[in-house]
Amino acid sequence: MAKYAAAIDQGTTSTRCMIFDHSGNVVCYDQKEHEQIYPRPGWVEHSPDEIWERTQSVIRGALNKGGLSASDIVAVGITNQRETTVVWNRKTGRPVYNAIVWQDTRTDQICNELAADGGQDRFRAKVGLPLATYFSGPKIRWILDNVPGAREAAEAGDVIFGNIDTFLTWWLTGGPDGGVHVTDVTNASRTMLMNLETLDWDDEILGIMGIPRQMLPKIMPSSMVYGTATGELAGVPVAGILGDQQAAMVGQTCFDPGEAKNTYGTGSFMLLNTGTKIVPSTSGLLTTVCYQFGNQPAVYALEGSIAITGALVQWLRDNLGLITSSAEVEALANLVEDNGGIYFVPAFSGLFAPYWRSDARGVIVGLTRYVNKGHLARAVLEATAYQTREVLDAMEQDSGVKLTALKVDGGMVYNNTLMQFQADILGVPVIRPKVAETTSLGAAYAAGLAVGFWSNTDEMRANWGVDHTWTPQMDEETRARLYRGWKKAVTRTFDWVE
Ligand code: G3P
Repeated sequence: MAKYAAAIDQGTTSTRCMIFDHSGNVVCYDQKEHEQIYPRPGWVEHSPDEIWERTQSVIRGALNKGGLSASDIVAVGITNQRETTVVWNRKTGRPVYNAIVWQDTRTDQICNELAADGGQDRFRAKVGLPLATYFSGPKIRWILDNVPGAREAAEAGDVIFGNIDTFLTWWLTGGPDGGVHVTDVTNASRTMLMNLETLDWDDEILGIMGIPRQMLPKIMPSSMVYGTATGELAGVPVAGILGDQQAAMVGQTCFDPGEAKNTYGTGSFMLLNTGTKIVPSTSGLLTTVCYQFGNQPAVYALEGSIAITGALVQWLRDNLGLITSSAEVEALANLVEDNGGIYFVPAFSGLFAPYWRSDARGVIVGLTRYVNKGHLARAVLEATAYQTREVLDAMEQDSGVKLTALKVDGGMVYNNTLMQFQADILGVPVIRPKVAETTSLGAAYAAGLAVGFWSNTDEMRANWGVDHTWTPQMDEETRARLYRGWKKAVTRTFDWVE
């Protein structure tokens, strides 16, 4: 009987369960969206209960579609939207507050206060991150400060913290009845609370942020058996945990220093493997953990995080109603030759890499009466490509590595117009692999590796193959001129929030 590895990918807008065969092909999957809750401008929440309910439902759905049962699955891996913060009661499983999503900017005051002593890079040497609303630590602090009774309960060890990986692993392995309270090194590296050298929570930062250690999960490698699933997957080892962007690195088999990928989702995240070296950034990137397999040394990465890329297409669809499905943006953009002189800088959550400006807000610049909705669609797509160019430039500066090609994945890589423009603006080929479901695949690999379904990374590499390559066609002068326009547009977003 053939056996399979499963992955649960809990993302910003939806949850998926994907089941893979030994060759890394998708056998079956199920997917469900969940509600985005916007209580105030800049605030973004999810319901943790809904996320757990959706997770159970997609596991059931995937097994049903494939005519499979738990006994066909060798292991399950979890991958997740990173940084999103849940605090819940360990006796009841009830969250004390909604999940505060990575895009949420409510912690800007907390971050400013923390930066008042030592600046935005106060903790960077230890944790690889600037003080920014993006990360979990300040979000935990906000919950402890604002939810009545939460701090006392956390100190007593009754309420606990987790990112979505931790929350789902806890529920999958039994919840209040013996669920394990763990996270992996990649997710922990996004909290601002983990020391990159020791791979343990940093007591000094915990003290400064006012976060009790007893509410934090145990930090583990990304590939090992953490516990055994209950419910639909009863008896299956839960054996992989990776933040979604790190999972995509594994799915893209970027196992050697110098290998990089870019994932185009709600936002976009470019990661470059730096091996066992912790490379500090001076160009606005993050230093993060890429993965740790079993008891092998941790592998690190430089990351360029962009908050809004695919989400801008959704905004065109949901907030302006210019298109009815995200895929339609390409046809709309192709009604015109170029951007008609406009640039759209989507600083909806401030700007992430390489700027880290929470005072920035979105702008459309260069408007004339000539501009029509085709130009707007074009500017929306181009914004993704320009932001990617900015993080690639930063990456080359920080690492000294000149990228010769970029592996890509995620929903937007089926947009041919965007991918060609991406290659043009970067000046390097852009490569889409055959299995573009790299995030789920990476989590399945981590889980399968822990139980011997895959014996080493060479087997994973052998599964990787090219589906499509876009080569640059734009001349150097045009590329430079367009990019100059973008850089100028970015400066117009600054100092908007006082
Ligand atoms: O850091 C945030 C990132 O993990 C979210 O990824 O794919 O859910 O937009 P995605």
